[in-house]
Amino acid sequence: MSRTLAILKPDCVRDGNTGKILAHLEREGFEIVALRKMRLSTDQAKAFYEVHRERPFYDSLVEFMTGGPIIPLALEREDAVPHLRRVMGATNPEEAEGGTLRKLYAASIESNAIHGSDSPDNARDELRFFFSRAELIAS
Ligand code: CMP
Repeated sequence: MSRTLAILKPDCVRDGNTGKILAHLEREGFEIVALRKMRLSTDQAKAFYEVHRERPFYDSLVEFMTGGPIIPLALEREDAVPHLRRVMGATNPEEAEGGTLRKLYAASIESNAIHGSDSPDNARDELRFFFSRAELIAS
């Protein structure tokens, strides 16, 4: 078993797609180990996306991610990181395969419904960013 971090982004929450995406993730065999609803501050969003600081879309990404509540999730299953990335589909929904979450629920490359960690190392860091050790103890 392994874990990954997902974030249901502000567009997903605003558009009422939270329940559908949670059900989709459970159907894919993910256990929801921890979950919360919160609004990122600008400093928190900048820190989370620090790796993209030099990218032209950084300021816009930070503004988008602070524009409404998000739902971070700690997810567990076999091969959690690559499996979630397959279930999400390509970053740009125009390139995402049919049936993937971004094909179903994303509007654009920025407004793309869901984030998923891109490696096990980043998953560990990103899980710690949002959740305490106590929250990450499996129930
Ligand atoms: P995410 O998986 O959260 O990781 C970084 C985010 O940056 C990505 O999803 C997109 O929402 C956003 N992003 C990546 N590339 C672009 C781009 N070319 N233009 C705007 N936003 C982008």
